[in-house]
Amino acid sequence: MSDNTNIIIRPADPEDIGQIYSIELECNQSPWTYAGLAAELANPNSMFLTMEQPQNGKIIGFACIASILEEIQINNIAIHPDYQGRGLGPMLINHALAKAAAEGASHAYLEVRESNIPAIKAYEKCGFTSYGVRKRYYRDGENAVLMSATLFTPRI
Ligand SMILES: CC(C)(COP(=O)(O)OP(=O)(O)OC[C@H]1O[C@@H](n2cnc3c(N)ncnc32)[C@H](O)[C@@H]1OP(=O)(O)O)[C@@H](O)C(=O)NCCC(=O)NCCS
Repeated sequence: MSDNTNIIIRPADPEDIGQIYSIELECNQSPWTYAGLAAELANPNSMFLTMEQPQNGKIIGFACIASILEEIQINNIAIHPDYQGRGLGPMLINHALAKAAAEGASHAYLEVRESNIPAIKAYEKCGFTSYGVRKRYYRDGENAVLMSATLFTPRI
């Protein structure tokens, strides 16, 4: 298992979009467009985080989370294929959940393809549980698993 301790998680910058788009194309069966990612970055209701290697500034993952009052929705997350399977996805998700909770969010939601076992496992490690299935949710007819998590506001 590689060492994750020096990995940097920070808000995405416009100049990161090129690297983020490359990861998106490699990871996502129905990738967002470059313009879609750029629009998300400019959206004031979106938390757009990147994961960066400190040695060379390389972006190795990202997450897009929408805030709607006290709820957040994980709309997109991907870890570069060379870095998957070492706990970075859960690390990024937990960081986003803690940040959202500190800002007052109480619940998190997401949809995931029924066949995407790595993602479902990663979400379960972060406290998400399934509360239903949306039949034929995706364009190719695949079902979506609906998952949610309760966030605990840190006490000061
Ligand atoms: C989903 C995703 C963000 C999870 O991130 P991650 O850093 O790989 O998460 P984890 O390291 O906790 O791995 C989760 C599970 O994936 C599997 N896995 C992923 N990559 C693996 C690899 N290279 N080797 C072995 N197992 C791997 C393992 O089964 C692991 O579960 P386990 O720890 O119980 O064995 C990442 O796999 C990804 O970017 N996938 C493509 C994009 C995607 O599907 N996004 C989610 C859309 S809803």
